[in-house]
Amino acid sequence: MTTLPIGPLDRFVDGEAAQVEAGGLVLAVVRLGDDVYVLGDRCTHADVSLAEGEVDPDARTIECWRHGSAFSLESGEPDALPATRPTPVYDATVVDGEVLVTVTVDESAGA
Ligand code: FES
Repeated sequence: MTTLPIGPLDRFVDGEAAQVEAGGLVLAVVRLGDDVYVLGDRCTHADVSLAEGEVDPDARTIECWRHGSAFSLESGEPDALPATRPTPVYDATVVDGEVLVTVTVDESAGA
């Protein structure tokens, strides 16, 4: 496990998702106020970006734009078909205004 900085909190728009690459992973980063959620940026139904989907701040989900499964920002679980498997979620914290995410670094990604 490695903790990586992915940018200042101000970089992320409240209530929206952004795609970020870190540690060889493509991540969907969602900011809700001072909270930051990080998921794998790939719908488990098909290979589309979750970061392009719509965030529901009340339900704390992000909806896949293609077929509408909404994934929990906390667990990565989809709420309905057609997706049936969770997307990975990663621990994120904000330290001195910088967003840090803890990931398992893919050593084969090249350095
Ligand atoms: S591609 Fe995401 S629900 Fe189908």
